[in-house]
Amino acid sequence: MKITFCCTDTKAEPWLTGLEAALPGAQVALWQPGAPPADHAVVWAPPQQFFDEQPQLKGIFNIGAGVDALMKLRLPPQATLVRLDDAGMSVQMAEYVCHAVIRHFREFDGYEADMRAGQWSYRKPRHRADFSVGVMGLGVLGERVARALQMFEFPVNGWSRSVKTIAGVRGFAGVAQFDDFLRATRVLVNLLPLTPDTQDVMNRETLSKLQPGGYVINVARGAHLVDDDLITLLDSGHLAGATLDVFRTEPLPAEHPFWTHPKISLTPHTSARTLREESIAQIAGKIMALECGDPVAGIVDPERGY
Ligand code: NAP
Ligand code: GLV
Repeated sequence: MKITFCCTDTKAEPWLTGLEAALPGAQVALWQPGAPPADHAVVWAPPQQFFDEQPQLKGIFNIGAGVDALMKLRLPPQATLVRLDDAGMSVQMAEYVCHAVIRHFREFDGYEADMRAGQWSYRKPRHRADFSVGVMGLGVLGERVARALQMFEFPVNGWSRSVKTIAGVRGFAGVAQFDDFLRATRVLVNLLPLTPDTQDVMNRETLSKLQPGGYVINVARGAHLVDDDLITLLDSGHLAGATLDVFRTEPLPAEHPFWTHPKISLTPHTSARTLREESIAQIAGKIMALECGDPVAGIVDPERGY
């Protein structure tokens, strides 16, 4: 079995040796233009040329949960596209989002500023019941995040495409219930895949429906958020702040206003990193399952785009 590896932003060597160790007998090689045909591909953000030269692929394994970059390319129609599911990302996402929610709710930024000013000052405790958190996207990551938030007794709402029942989470589904979800939410967490249906989903109109003092946590993709609309609503005071991990252009350009906005905290697309060992083990398992005709978890539906 031949596996070709094409990943633009990572050191290939440990992946190649790791995949070879996990798939005894397989030949794993770094893709170069003109490389011989392979059975399966392990990829992150490959160029179109990669698929044009590998039309025979049976399986394409994405080194990440989001497949939006691949959905923009012409993929071999017979190939099964498989995303990472969890592989160590959901716990990271849960800790990132809980940290952001708690930091906002408990006003830790304010305490830090007080400390730097040498000030010993208390803030009035806020009511947890007033900080309902709404998680958009209740998939592998969103569900874990919703469950983690419940541990801290925040009221949790969830929005997905199809109806989902998670104990203790007030569920909303589809376009018809989106407004009700937003109006029931103060802290909005985005864990949607980026598809034509979800692009620009956080805009002036939708974010205005959040409860006053709303807060935005975007950990999915930058193109879910209309940047100028966020800034307008932060400056008007309708929104209290935002924690952003993903951006339309990454790295975030030096002149972008998010860098210096006093109500924005940002991190460099790091809320849930791909962990190499977990990912290699998962991808190897998926390749073997596909080869044997067994069910494979995380197959992407090209019609839905995720
Ligand atoms: P997933 O398992 O595919 O879950 C997607 C969820 O979004 C599902 O609940 C789905 O609804 C819902 N959804 C999709 N389209 C929708 C629509 N039009 N309206 C309402 N709900 C919709 O994805 P995941 O593994 O949780 O990952 C989510 C995203 O996180 C990825 O696509 C990626 O962009 C992002 N991500 C970011 C990082 C980072 O470091 N920042 C790391 C990993 C992933 P159904 O349940 O009804 O299908
Ligand atoms: C990272 O952003 C991923 O989609 O896994």
